[in-house]
Amino acid sequence: MNRDHNEPLIVQEVAPRDGLQIEKQWVETEDKIALIDGLSTCGFTRIEAGSFVSPKAIPALRDGDAVFNGIRRGQGVTYVALVPNVKGAQRAIAASADELNLVMSASQTHNRANMRMSCESSLAGFGDVVQLVRNAPYPVSLNATVATAFGCPFEGRIDEERVVSIARTYREMGIAGITLADTTGMANPRQVARLVARVLELVPAADLTLHFHNTRGLGLANVLAAYDAGARRFDAALGGLGGCPFAPGASGNICTEDLVNMCEEMGIPTGVDLQKLIALSRTLPALVGHEVSGQVAKAGRNCDLHPAPEYVRTI
Ligand code: COA
Ligand code: ZN
Repeated sequence: MNRDHNEPLIVQEVAPRDGLQIEKQWVETEDKIALIDGLSTCGFTRIEAGSFVSPKAIPALRDGDAVFNGIRRGQGVTYVALVPNVKGAQRAIAASADELNLVMSASQTHNRANMRMSCESSLAGFGDVVQLVRNAPYPVSLNATVATAFGCPFEGRIDEERVVSIARTYREMGIAGITLADTTGMANPRQVARLVARVLELVPAADLTLHFHNTRGLGLANVLAAYDAGARRFDAALGGLGGCPFAPGASGNICTEDLVNMCEEMGIPTGVDLQKLIALSRTLPALVGHEVSGQVAKAGRNCDLHPAPEYVRTI
């Protein structure tokens, strides 16, 4: 494992998917497309641009097909689609998604709440998706997420052995990318360091993504713990939007501009343009109809200095 502590950190922007899926106010298709097109100019190499799930489960993202067909594809940007089943995979491939992100929870209870099926049924469906992808008309990458990997709002603690074993199963099925998701912000930095170290024995760092929510304020602390343990790829949402509608108490993802700011201040390259990101983040309250939780878009960057008050000169 490379322990170079200035190695780039890859940010996968997930606001168009995790961010918008929980919003009550309908975001017009053209506004979703404009948001993704804006994000495509910020330097991201990966954007989760939508999901292809049941429109009854997530009405806010029911226009995934039109969104994927309407966006301007940035060069070198992988556009990811979250899919729960074969039907979703068919729709995502018809809309030319570059990568499919399959999701199953480590917790049976959360999987039943979110996907309306057992973990075993989810896995059986993933097997069919792997076959479908092999026969796709263009190369499609595969990622699979272990949701509630660090704790479940219904079941509480999740056995680390179970998470490792699901990651191993995904890899054995031929799914290269693995995401460990802290769906409702229950992870702590020491737990993260332990689990990342274990999963990196099975999965190369280039294929591993960590997905944190800031529900209990530990989001960026968890990022640092994971990075120090060797993880290099992280999901984050512009403005700190996000949350799973089928997990009680869910709230936003770690905030992209807060993450990029932290990395910049620490000397960890992300390739993302913070100034552009802040400008885009400031358009979010108008888009979703409420304030967002991100800090840096409100405070500005460290280098955005203020003129000293007049009286200072006289002291
Ligand atoms: N895209 C669009 N429609 C879909 C679909 C998909 N991927 N999967 C199923 N449907 C439709 C079916 O065609 C059927 O439609 P009909 O009622 O018009 O006949 C209906 O949804 C029910 O299908 P069924 O297979 O019985 O699904 P379900 O009701 O058991 O729900 C899921 C299973 C997985 C489709 C649903 O729970 C889901 O989409 N969950 C995702 C939740 C999510 O995105 N959470 C946040 C991200 S982790
Ligand atoms: Zn999430």
